[in-house]
This record gives sequence, C-alpha cells and structure tokens, in this order.
Amino acid sequence: MTVRIAIIGGTGVYDPNILSDVHQKRLETPFGPAWVKIGTYRGREVAFMARHGEDHSVPPHLVNYRANIWGLRQLGVKNVFATAAVGSLNTEMKPKQFVFVDQFLDFTRSRVQTFVEKGVVHLDMTDPYCPELRSTLARAAQELEMEHHVRGTYVCTEGPRFETPAEIRMFRQLGGDLVGMTSVPEVVLAREAGICYATIAMVTNFAAGISPTRLSHQEVVDVMAENVGNLRRLVMRAIEL
Ligand code: HPA
Repeated sequence: MTVRIAIIGGTGVYDPNILSDVHQKRLETPFGPAWVKIGTYRGREVAFMARHGEDHSVPPHLVNYRANIWGLRQLGVKNVFATAAVGSLNTEMKPKQFVFVDQFLDFTRSRVQTFVEKGVVHLDMTDPYCPELRSTLARAAQELEMEHHVRGTYVCTEGPRFETPAEIRMFRQLGGDLVGMTSVPEVVLAREAGICYATIAMVTNFAAGISPTRLSHQEVVDVMAENVGNLRRLVMRAIEL
C-alpha cells in the first residue's frame, strides 16, 4: 500500500495513537534523515511525523523541514494535515478554537525555503494552504460541532523566543491573525514538493500584550494537552472524508 496521507504533529501532538500496526521508519533524504511512523487507520496507510521530535527536543528554528517534507514525498504522500499551536492577535479567534489558515506572513530569518539548489524556481503562492483540504477540515469541524474559523493569516516568526507586544501590534496592523514559529518554510516546501498541505492551527493563548499575563511554553503545552483529544478527532474525521 502507498502512504498518501500524513499528519505532521506540532507542539502537544507527539504520538500517532489513533493508528494501528504502527512501525517506525528512518527516511534517508539528501537533507539528512527524517523519522516517521506509519500505521493504518480505517484501512488506509497514514504517516505520522512529530515536528519537534517525540520528546519535543527540536526547537522551531532547528527543525529539518527539508528532510521532513522530502521524506514524505519519497513515501508518496499527497496530502498533509499539519497541526500547530498558535497565539492569537485577533480577539475573534479565541483559545481552544481551530483556524484553517489560508495565508501567511513570513518573518523568519535563517531558514532555507527551497529544495532547489541550482537554477531558478519562482513558486506561485496565491493559495499556499490547500483549499481542498481546508474545506474538508471545515466540513469535519462542522460535523463535530467544534468552534473554528475557515480562514486566517498566520504570522511566522523565527523564534524560539516569543514576541514583544510591539511586534504583535505591528503584525496585527499588517493583517495577521495568528502567530507561530513553524508554518514557514514547511508549507512552502510542501508546495514545492507538489503536496497538498493544510494547517490546523489551534489557538493556545492571546499573544503578548493582548493577554493580560506573561506567556510561557508551559501554558501553550497545557492548553494543547486539554484540547488534543478534539484535535485528534478532527484530523481523523478529515481523513475519513
Ligand atoms: N507566539 C508564537 N508562537 C506561539 C504562540 C505565541 O504566542 N503560542 C503558541 N505558539
């Protein structure tokens, strides 16, 4: 069987325990190794990759995005659901809600965003996140009666630090809704690889300066942990549709 669907698990999503007959595989790529677990769900082979490693040891700016996406392409993956914990800049997008983002603003600084090392490729970015997968997610969320937003602009920062309130005000003025540290270059590389890619952003907090309290990684992990069951149900329903 070929693996057509993959889940990239972000913060708080480290195991594929919805899958059965899981085996681990090390994928060799020109960009180094990538690790994936492959299992079955309702008769379909599904790959699972923990973006930060299963012990959350890899920070966002050091994730080997190229190896991960190249590895998934080598497996034959056509569709990727990526999960992401995000801060919100938009008071309509509240903690524990899901957002199926449709645009990004890139504020990363030191990440390679292409597989192409010779020649020139200018990739169209009109729809960076796959419209078909986004509408599948919207249907799944509707059926499951989960609070969600069908579009949103994800601001990707370099991290690993959180933002200053001044940065958050600037991002909001520029049209950002959410802030996180991983969607770029993951979505860009997936597009270059011809993979249909969608992000399921889960709001874990209001961003710095909007939240009345100081932000900590623990807070993000705790809110994610409270809602990871819903996230799982959402992804599984979307895979079925
Ligand atoms: N900023 C950046 N990344 C995040 C945040 C945030 O507020 N929350 C979860 N990931």
